[in-house]
Amino acid sequence: MTDIRTIENGDLGDALAIINDAARAYRGVIPDDRWHEPYMSSTELASEIADGVAFWVAEQDGRLVGVMGMQDKGEVLLVRHAYVATTIQRSGLGTRLLRHVLALTRKPVLIGTWADANWAIDFYRRNGFTVVSNKEKDLLLRKYWSIPERQIETSVVLADSRWLERRRT
Ligand SMILES: CC(C)(COP(=O)(O)OP(=O)(O)OC[C@H]1O[C@@H](n2cnc3c(N)ncnc32)[C@H](O)[C@@H]1OP(=O)(O)O)[C@@H](O)C(=O)NCCC(=O)NCCS
Repeated sequence: MTDIRTIENGDLGDALAIINDAARAYRGVIPDDRWHEPYMSSTELASEIADGVAFWVAEQDGRLVGVMGMQDKGEVLLVRHAYVATTIQRSGLGTRLLRHVLALTRKPVLIGTWADANWAIDFYRRNGFTVVSNKEKDLLLRKYWSIPERQIETSVVLADSRWLERRRT
């Protein structure tokens, strides 16, 4: 049985292990100067939480198997740091986690990911998201994210239908 719940202090070590295991998919794919191991340190995770990223975790038979964060930026909500344990990827858990966090908001939702992470882009597209233009991506990443310029260059932004609808009006 899979239970999706908010993260607790006791989950942080297991959550980091999932993030750093799943993030190995980026090695050799994203630009070398952006790759480092571990991909996320405990200090970075703590600082993301302090910065307002609310994490949800998926637990299966008492074991953490997935992590997904959301960050409220006022007019929009960002989905941040989505990771599923490598042993159970492509079995629908990422979709369940994403639907869970999306159901918690009525705000337009944006997601940033590496431009070369085709599988992640595919995952979000299958879940109704659309890649925005490069020009829009630069504006959005500067407005809502705090990431280095080099990461802006090498990322894409995907938007949900609410965001696309709002942009049209
Ligand atoms: C992206 C991720 C969170 C999706 O979770 P998941 O549980 O694997 O996703 P689901 O099972 O719900 O959806 C699977 C779909 O996602 C895409 N996908 C996920 N992993 C993939 C992979 N390794 N290769 C190709 N497509 C992949 C495919 O469209 C896949 O559908 P398919 O299996 O029918 O081809 C997970 O694969 C992951 O942690 N990847 C590594 C880290 C990452 O890229 N995170 C996103 C950061 S924003």
